[in-house]
Order: sequence, then C-alpha cells, then structure tokens
Amino acid sequence: MNASDRLVTAAREARDRAIATYSDFRVGAALETVDGTIVTGCNIENASYGLTICAERVAMFKALSEGHRAFVRIAVVADTVEPTPPCGACRQILWEFGPDLEVILANLSEVTGRHQMATLLPHAFSGRLLDR
Ligand code: THU
Repeated sequence: MNASDRLVTAAREARDRAIATYSDFRVGAALETVDGTIVTGCNIENASYGLTICAERVAMFKALSEGHRAFVRIAVVADTVEPTPPCGACRQILWEFGPDLEVILANLSEVTGRHQMATLLPHAFSGRLLDR
C-alpha cells in the first residue's frame, strides 16, 4: 500500500470514531507529517452546535500539540459521492500550518479528488500581514 492509500485508510478508520450526534455526517481525517507519522481526527459535535469541530482541525491540533510542525498530506473521508472538501475555517488552519499540503478527498470506496492547499485557499490571510 502506498503512502496515499495508507492515509485514506487511516482517515476511514478515524471516521468510524466521529461524534456526529446532530448531523449524522461523519468525517475522518488523517494527516501525514514529514517524518511519516500519521495523526488522525474525526468531527466532534456538541449540543451547542457552534462548538462543533471538524475532523481536519482535530487532526491538525492533535499533531501540533504533539510537537509536529511540518506536514506532507492530509486525507479527508466522508460518505458522499461528491468530494467533501475542507470548510473555510479548516482551510485557514491547514494553510497556516501546512501551506504545501496535498489534500486528498475520498469516500468509503474511492479517492474523489486531489488538491494543493494553495489552490484551495488563494489570497490567504497570513501572520506576515500582522508585521506592519
Ligand atoms: N465537517 C467536517 O468534519 N469536515 C468537513 O470537511 C466538512 C464538515 C463536519 C462538521 C459537522 O460535524 C458535520 O461535518 C456537518 O457539517
């Protein structure tokens, strides 16, 4: 199995752990670091709906909190025919910490899309702009 297939498999497994109590829309993510470590995430919903967090941000925050700082690719899995791309909030977070990420979108049976992070979030707001 190649690195991309391994990542998609890990994202599918993470999706099984989703806490999608309110939407029943389960998402899994798997983030590969430069040293080949795979860190997974799933969406976690809350009765106060706005506190819900997406699978992609869970994966990135877990990885950052464990000390990882450089990332190669992320796989995102949902049970949809059309690809489920990261939401706007997740794009901002993924871009800041993984500007060169490849984003692999997949469902339960196949890969449905491949993107570069820079293409998903052109003209991103950057910390560089805070240095006036
Ligand atoms: N969700 C994700 O986890 N990732 C995405 O890329 C799209 C949306 C979650 C948030 C919420 O729990 C549910 O899917 C429905 O929006």
